[in-house]
Amino acid sequence: MYFCSINPNKTLFMRTIDEQGYHFEEWLTPEEIAKDVKQVAATISKDYQGQEPLFVVVLNGAFVFASDLLRALHDVRCEVTFIRVSSYWGMSSTGQLEFIVPLQQVVENRDVIIVEDIVDTGLTIHQLKAHMRGLGVNSIRVATMLFKPEKLEYDDAKPDYVGHEISEEFVIGYGLDFDGFVRNLDAIYKVKE
Ligand code: IMP
Repeated sequence: MYFCSINPNKTLFMRTIDEQGYHFEEWLTPEEIAKDVKQVAATISKDYQGQEPLFVVVLNGAFVFASDLLRALHDVRCEVTFIRVSSYWGMSSTGQLEFIVPLQQVVENRDVIIVEDIVDTGLTIHQLKAHMRGLGVNSIRVATMLFKPEKLEYDDAKPDYVGHEISEEFVIGYGLDFDGFVRNLDAIYKVKE
């Protein structure tokens, strides 16, 4: 359910949403997100001029960001493919990546850009990079809409292209879910204690 209230810091009205007993407030508006996406797309366009990168979009969360990002690139001839993973902790402390939808495309000798919705501990990226290196990629970089630097546990998972940094708060919308729901929100909402 949506509500509107006066927000002294931003625009006149701020949207809020209540989901599964938690209260969320709009943190990044669609306009602010569009600005972030444009900036990331411009940097990637510059860095990959003359190359033909392969974008690997990590489902489900990154589908919204990837859709906007890829259409905002300038003069980059590229391919896109999708992967769906779930990282879980087994009996060991190393963690394992479960491939729910495995890579469909040959990545050997390709310049890969992994597209994520959010990098949190970095476990997903850390393991995906190791997997793709094993498959013989030429290079790997990471583009993410959001990055939680304070929570990063894997150095090699630090993203190369970031839309916006955030501290440790839980966020939803623009692809990010809460138990599978609210991915379709057009803004990013932050939980309020
Ligand atoms: P990591 O492997 O710890 O970096 O976690 C990355 C994944 O955790 C993301 O792709 C999201 O699915 C999920 N995640 C982490 N933080 C949030 C959040 O604030 N909201 C929604 N999902 C999150």
